[in-house]
Amino acid sequence: MASRKLFLLPGDGIGPEAMAEVRKLISWMNDNLSTGFETSEGLVGGAAYDDHGQAISDADMEQAMSADAVLFGAVGGPKWDDVSYDVRPEAGLLRLRKDMELFANLRPAICYPALANSSSLRPEVVEGLDILIIRELTGGVYFGEPKEITDLGNGQKRAVDTQVYDTFEIERITRVAFDLAKTRKGKVTSMEKRNVMVSGVLWNEVVTKVHGEEYADLELEHMLADAGGMQLVRWPKQFDVIVTDNLFGDMLSDVAAMLTGSLGMLPSASLGAPDPITGARKALYEPVHGSAPDIAGTGAANPIAMIASFAMCMRYSFDMIDAADRLEKAISNVLEKGLRTADIMSDGMTKVSTSEMGDAVIAEFEGLSL
Ligand code: IPM
Ligand code: MG
Repeated sequence: MASRKLFLLPGDGIGPEAMAEVRKLISWMNDNLSTGFETSEGLVGGAAYDDHGQAISDADMEQAMSADAVLFGAVGGPKWDDVSYDVRPEAGLLRLRKDMELFANLRPAICYPALANSSSLRPEVVEGLDILIIRELTGGVYFGEPKEITDLGNGQKRAVDTQVYDTFEIERITRVAFDLAKTRKGKVTSMEKRNVMVSGVLWNEVVTKVHGEEYADLELEHMLADAGGMQLVRWPKQFDVIVTDNLFGDMLSDVAAMLTGSLGMLPSASLGAPDPITGARKALYEPVHGSAPDIAGTGAANPIAMIASFAMCMRYSFDMIDAADRLEKAISNVLEKGLRTADIMSDGMTKVSTSEMGDAVIAEFEGLSL
């Protein structure tokens, strides 16, 4: 078995606790299924800042660039509220995305049947929900220049962020969306704000063109992003794949995530373009949730989003489709059995800690694997 190089960046807050459960799973798989995962580990976010004053070091960036896949926990926390902007914890994550050219962010929002009652929406609205948000991740207002605050000299300052998209950036994210829609229900909804932003006008135009030329057999729908947010909470099951820019994708994916009961449940994959020779994509996998500093260290964190991110890693980086399916099934089974971390706890269920949840998923996965 060829080795599979994983670079782990647990980060801050609950990141390390969630990552510990994935580490347990990886060593079980190496011991019992000869999966040959090789792991090394680095620092990112506040943890990296405390160690060496940067949100990620050049040496760790190099390791990330040469790994087959990066597993990322979470970054940030009040401890670093006052550090300067360019070395704030989030800068580490943004540098990883930019330098690895991870332009395609896949954020599935799946409502596990056992959790339909944990949503703030009525169960019939979310039961069976399975949507996929494709967020553009290396462009738009996150990275556009100029990005600065200037002193106007009259007691006023001016802050500028720049929303910018080139045709090729919209084309490639559109293709990712349609290629994935092909394996699902075949419908893509593109969201922008062409009524107020010229970047939205171009976005709409390019998505329409790529659809017409390359994917005319699939369904394309356009929606203004604000209306899309409203439709997401009104009747989310109308969507299959949503494709949108970096900032709208950030917001809409938090909305979609919460439909499913808890941010603690949802994984994500960030992928680069396939290498022209090997076909391999640079990739980073991370839970959608943040570092949750308020519960860090208490054993209350939900490790499912991190474990499900590892399932996505097996699926997209290593073509281990069966193992990914089994791991997702294991998560679903454990929920069916009534085990709940604090964030998804409800009446009559059994409350478990981070590591108890991790152990239960591994035991279930073992049962499905051996
Ligand atoms: C996310 C997060 C990040 C983002 C932060 C941590 C920089 O909210 O991945 O959704 O805004 O992209
Ligand atoms: Mg976000």
